[in-house]
Amino acid sequence: KKVSVGVDIGGTNTAIGIVDEAGKVIAKGGIETPSHGDIEKYMDDLTAAIRNLVSSAGEILTVLGIGVGAPNGNYYNGTIEYAPNLSFQGIIPFVELLKKRFPELDIIALTNDANAATIGEMIYGGAKGMKNFVMYTLGTGVGSGIVVNGDLVYGHDGFAGECGHTTLIPDGRTCGCGAKGHLEAYCSAPGMKRTAFELMARYNATDSLLANKSFNELDSKMIFDAAEAGDKIALEVFEITGKYLGQGLADTVHHLSPEAIFLFGGPTAAGDYIFKPTKESMEAHLLPIFTDKIKILPSELDSGDAAS
Ligand code: BGC
Ligand code: NA
Repeated sequence: KKVSVGVDIGGTNTAIGIVDEAGKVIAKGGIETPSHGDIEKYMDDLTAAIRNLVSSAGEILTVLGIGVGAPNGNYYNGTIEYAPNLSFQGIIPFVELLKKRFPELDIIALTNDANAATIGEMIYGGAKGMKNFVMYTLGTGVGSGIVVNGDLVYGHDGFAGECGHTTLIPDGRTCGCGAKGHLEAYCSAPGMKRTAFELMARYNATDSLLANKSFNELDSKMIFDAAEAGDKIALEVFEITGKYLGQGLADTVHHLSPEAIFLFGGPTAAGDYIFKPTKESMEAHLLPIFTDKIKILPSELDSGDAAS
């Protein structure tokens, strides 16, 4: 059976999937993304994990190639460059390092993680047949992929689509990249947690279902469960997250005039809690030429173990 290997590098975990020619993930694995910067060891571990997964699949697999998605991944150069939410510093020649370990493979490619998700949505998901759309991925960071006239947009240097680093609030919260007030600092999973902690401090909300949780314990699923139980803090977290996200989406609409914007990742599992305020806020910021025309849709892909 002919397969491809997909690798998604996240801030804490690196997910590996074996994908058949119909786009179905037939086996899943993964390793931790190290919190220190020893890239050679990480590449060795990743190689072993991929080879292991392929050989333990229970049938003979012919690997056609490896496709990697990474924050700040550069498709043109096969590099990961100064990723704010990864421990690897500087410019990592990722494809070159992987090619050394898989000399038998002709195709090893890397792109930005959100771009990879966007390509998936275009080929296998809800964006099939759409010529102009954007996808935002909400996780440890906020990424995006932009499709214009049926093509993913890479831009001059290969980094187009860093919509998570849109500035929403001058002098606002510090983003993982070091700049202030970026959308990611509010609408990523950690951004939502920061909002929860700020609100609990502001209202001294010791009776919130989210009180008594440490920052690391809390995740967007817990915020969703608390909202379902009517917790005021959790409900306000979604209102605020949606307000900021909608503001960012409106900018995207003004720049690109897309047919739809897809939302992908853990926090989007909250459904209307996040989609409704996002839509309202986007509409409030849009020019009348766009009013009520732009769909905000949940991704139809399985976001797997994407950070929540
Ligand atoms: C990075 C993007 C990435 C996103 C999601 C952002 O902080 O700048 O390159 O796509 O996080 O991982
Ligand atoms: Na991107």
